[in-house]
Amino acid sequence: MKFQSLKDLSVHSKTILLRADLNVPRHNGEVTDTTRIDRLLPTIEYLREKGAKILIISHFGRPDGEQNPEMSLAFLAPVLEKRWNCPVHFAPDCIGAHTAALAKDLKDGDILLLENVRFYKEEEKNDPAFAAKLAALGDIYVNDAFSASHRAHASTAAIAEILPAAAGLLMEEELSALNAALLTPQRPVMAVTGGSKISTKLSVLNNLIEKVDYLVLGGGMANTFLYAKGINMGKSLCEKEMKDEAVRIMEKAQKSGCEIILPLDVVAVNQLKEHADYTIYDVENMPADQMAIDAGPETIRYAGEKARECKTIVWNGPLGVFEIKPFDNGTNSLAKIVAEQTQKGECTSVAGGGDTVAALENAGTAKDFTYISTAGGAFLEWLEGKSLPGVTALANAIGKAA
Ligand code: 3PG
Repeated sequence: MKFQSLKDLSVHSKTILLRADLNVPRHNGEVTDTTRIDRLLPTIEYLREKGAKILIISHFGRPDGEQNPEMSLAFLAPVLEKRWNCPVHFAPDCIGAHTAALAKDLKDGDILLLENVRFYKEEEKNDPAFAAKLAALGDIYVNDAFSASHRAHASTAAIAEILPAAAGLLMEEELSALNAALLTPQRPVMAVTGGSKISTKLSVLNNLIEKVDYLVLGGGMANTFLYAKGINMGKSLCEKEMKDEAVRIMEKAQKSGCEIILPLDVVAVNQLKEHADYTIYDVENMPADQMAIDAGPETIRYAGEKARECKTIVWNGPLGVFEIKPFDNGTNSLAKIVAEQTQKGECTSVAGGGDTVAALENAGTAKDFTYISTAGGAFLEWLEGKSLPGVTALANAIGKAA
């Protein structure tokens, strides 16, 4: 899919409406992970160097179209100032005469953060009139929020029909890394997918088996597949009602030449708690009073051997209950093999979605992957093979001159 890049546009003295994803995790008023803020810096620096005026549009949480002070973006202006080392002003609304006046006062290189765009219900309705009110504040629209681009909202979709539109530097980086991993990958390709339920990842699994050579499954999802193969999973998390679906996926995978790698052995406990006593069983031999909570060493050895053959590896989700030690072992061990292969230049590795980054940070390997996406839900929808409305809107906007 082709789209205009920020670098194609002349932005000097122009007012840029920059859609960012500042939906960052917050605990007790503090931002607990600044990744999304830090990864925007190249776009911010580029725009400031070129003398553009920057208006940042973002959502925060899900206020459902209500003005909710708890989800105000005001707290973020000083955080952005610190991370980006430049002044960031705040507008207490994202549209209207007062916001327009603040935008007009901006000098080249200034930044104005607008209040949470989801305070208006029209945002999530992709309302064209609301998009026009946003668009009226600036000259050019830049979408740098890949992680929000699975939403067809006014600030990610409709607005691109009104103004000249381009992808920001982070958006471009995300799309080129993700496309290199699944659209035009070097083979063999492995996908590692964990998580508790296959019911939430059916479309992901169905898409991946068509695209990859190896699919490593972990977590509760793997238990459901093992159960579908007739293995007694004891007290393990398992969606018995998804048995037929799991069988269908395995049959389809076989036809399309994808090897599904399920646990050969598991780490099992009687009760799940920190440092619980555990035993490693071959999957066929796990007693009925036990629950599988991590992939065992034989599984990691086999998956690792296949990973060493692969030129491209896509990772989404942990292989076990990585939050409770030592049941992060399976995830950590395979992640280390992927990181080593990446560092040796043997493969390209891309990870993203949900708990994935936390699991790879915990393994100490995130920095050694080729690319870590900032996206959660959008990464999953991309893994499903869906086109993302925010990206499609950029592609449709091609040709509108700035
Ligand atoms: C995210 O955190 O994944 C994005 O900001 C999208 O948020 P949403 O799921 O509330 O649309």
